[in-house]
Amino acid sequence: MTPDEGVRRARLAAVRRAIEIVREESPEVIGVGTGSTTALFIEEAHRAGVLRGKTLVPSSIDTMLRLAGLGYAVADPGSVEYVDVYVDSADLVDKSGTVIVKGGGGALTTEKIVMSSSRKAIIVVDHRKVIDEVGAGVAVPVDVLPKALRFVLRRLRELGFDASPRQAERKKGPVVSDVGGVLVDAVIGEGMTPEEAAYAISSVPGVIEHGLFIRMADTVLVSRADGSVTELPGMRVCSGRH
Ligand code: A5P
Repeated sequence: MTPDEGVRRARLAAVRRAIEIVREESPEVIGVGTGSTTALFIEEAHRAGVLRGKTLVPSSIDTMLRLAGLGYAVADPGSVEYVDVYVDSADLVDKSGTVIVKGGGGALTTEKIVMSSSRKAIIVVDHRKVIDEVGAGVAVPVDVLPKALRFVLRRLRELGFDASPRQAERKKGPVVSDVGGVLVDAVIGEGMTPEEAAYAISSVPGVIEHGLFIRMADTVLVSRADGSVTELPGMRVCSGRH
C-alpha cells in the first residue's frame, strides 16, 4: 500500500463513521465543509444516498461546485438560521480534540459561521493531523480585510506572531479568500496558549476571522491506515444548539 492509499483508506473509514452519525441525526439541513477529506465525504455520502432531499449548505465555493456538480441544489449560508449537522475536516487538531486549526484551503470564515450555527459538528481527520498541542510554531490562517492588510500584519507581529500574506501560486500576490479577504498565515509565538492567540488575533481591527476553532466540535473522528477510528470529544461550548 502506498502512503497515499494508506491516507485514503484511513480517511474513508472516518468518513464512513461520519456518515453513520449523520444518518442517526436524521438532519434536514446539512452543513458541508471544505477540502479533500470533505470531498471524500461528499462522494461517499452521495453514493450512500444520505444527501438526497436535504438542504445542503456549502462552506465554500469549492464545495458549492462539488455539490452542484452532483446535481444538488445548495442553500446559501446566509439563507439558513441553523444547520442540523456540520461535517468538515481540519488542518491540525490537538490530541484532546479541543483546539482545531482550519483554513488551509482559505474557506475558514464561512466554515466557522456554518459550523457555529450547527447543532452538531463532526470533524474528520487522519491521525497525521493530530498533534500534542497547538502552540508556538503553528501557523494560524487569518482572513483579513484587504484595506487593513498592512496594519494587521504590523499589529500581529507586535503581538508576537510571525505573520505574512500567503503567496498565490497562479496569481501575483497574496491568496484571496472565498469572502474576498487576504489570507495571512500567523505563526504563534513562544508562550502563547491557543486561547490567548485566538483572543489576540480577534482583537485586531481588520481581521475578518481566524482559523483557531476552539471547543467548537462535538466529535473529532481520527482514523488510521488500518481502518480503525477513534473519537475525541471536542469539548464543545460554542454551539448553535437550540
Ligand atoms: C479549508 O479552509 C480547510 O479548513 C480544510 O477543511 C482543511 O484544510 C482540511 O483540508 P483537507 O481535508 O484537504 O486536508
